[in-house]
Amino acid sequence: MIYKNYVGGVWMEGVTKKTFQNINPATGKVLSEFQDSAPIDVDTAVGIAHDAFRMWKNTPAPKRGEILYKAAELLLRDKECIAGQMTQEMGKPLSETRGDVQEAIDMAYYAAGEGRRMAGEVVPSELENKWCMSRKEPIGVIGAITPWNFPIAIPSWKSFPALVAGNTMVIKPAEDTPWSVIKLAEIFHEAGLPAGVFNVVTGYGVTAGMPLLVNPKVKMISFTGSTATGKIVATTCASMMKPYSLEMGGKNGIVVMEDADIDLAVEGVVWGAFGTTGQRCTACSRVMVHEDIHEEFIAKLVAKTKTLSIGDGTKDKTDVGPLINEKALNKVIKYVEQAKINGHTPLVGGNHIRQPNEDCSGWFYEPTIFDNIDINDELMQEEIFGPVVAVTTFENINEAIWMVNNTEYGLSAAVYTNDVNFAFRALNEIETGLCYINASTIGAEIQLPFGGIKGTGNGHRDAGSSMIDNCTEWKSCMVDYSGKVQKAQIDH
Ligand code: UN1
Repeated sequence: MIYKNYVGGVWMEGVTKKTFQNINPATGKVLSEFQDSAPIDVDTAVGIAHDAFRMWKNTPAPKRGEILYKAAELLLRDKECIAGQMTQEMGKPLSETRGDVQEAIDMAYYAAGEGRRMAGEVVPSELENKWCMSRKEPIGVIGAITPWNFPIAIPSWKSFPALVAGNTMVIKPAEDTPWSVIKLAEIFHEAGLPAGVFNVVTGYGVTAGMPLLVNPKVKMISFTGSTATGKIVATTCASMMKPYSLEMGGKNGIVVMEDADIDLAVEGVVWGAFGTTGQRCTACSRVMVHEDIHEEFIAKLVAKTKTLSIGDGTKDKTDVGPLINEKALNKVIKYVEQAKINGHTPLVGGNHIRQPNEDCSGWFYEPTIFDNIDINDELMQEEIFGPVVAVTTFENINEAIWMVNNTEYGLSAAVYTNDVNFAFRALNEIETGLCYINASTIGAEIQLPFGGIKGTGNGHRDAGSSMIDNCTEWKSCMVDYSGKVQKAQIDH
């Protein structure tokens, strides 16, 4: 099957007619082909989105919300089909791809409701018979570049708020998972979204992503992905004075205090570190354990990790699927082999699995734990984006907080403790955008602002109460009905 781009409400071939293959990371087999779009294909889509902007902006927000609500219903109807297909293109187990689609559904309903809120502000004037109001206005064409680890959830976090606010969009999905976003376009089409409001152009970063960044008709870029690509987005947009929202890497830590429920903490680390094969920006890749409970904790963590079943995500028993592609696998291998050279022996894992079971010849790696790793070691500092976790010990809470903050990133952190004083102190002092007590670092809900500080983001948040702020501009409107000259900026 060869999929086309979705532009102006129709399915369109790229001008060069070149395609690229979508590979199942569990089997290595080709699933389908997508347009390897050229810059001109992106420019066509942007031109159409630009032309559709006035019509969509002037469509009443409640009406926009109704169409998006319909899309939510269709996502719900097709949840199982989308999850099944997503497991094939991305690899994570069905239980997780169902969760991914559910995040999209939740976001769709949440944002659709905003069509009847979209609250602005009315504030008093210092003059008589004058009103001062502010409302949120759409920005124009928003270009979105989305990652492969949440193939429909993250595109939905970006699209539904942007669309309900009256923006139009051109989205370039990750080349590893284009199907989910093509499916989202089908859903919007069926829901009755007018032609040109939502457009999908598939392809690679240089030929399809970059043209989106530099097109002057794209008024804002929303990006989730690696820090390296995020820096390119930032510098390119900054040189054009174009606003941009970045959601990048993480090196998220879990602190286990001496009073913690150890079994609960073990579950949290296993889920945070090995769920989605460690390929979440929120994944837990570093653990700090109080020295008094270290031995018991490690024994339980290793035992639990050994029970994980690795394989094709379409099989019910699978806990951990493959890595997304060969490059990702090689990155994990590089870090683990280097750690071994540095004298560290994994307590469990540390190997590439060539064929976990029949029909599986994709990119699998064993869940891997390293213990007694210095907080400044690269295993503790660099984002590996795979099933590798490094553990260390601490003596007291001051040291624990220092350790969890000792990273260039600031996305997520978690603390396991039953001490309410420590819990609140940790929430106050940990430098991340997301902070959990007695729950793992992953699994943020869409009604909360999602994003990070320090090297993770640039001050923007997807989802939650800030989702509309992220894709609108304030316009302040003043009406003086006094019928006389009134001057605010003189002494009155
Ligand atoms: C990501 O990995 O980029 O909080 C997003 C979580 C998910 C989203 C992860 N809801 O783990």
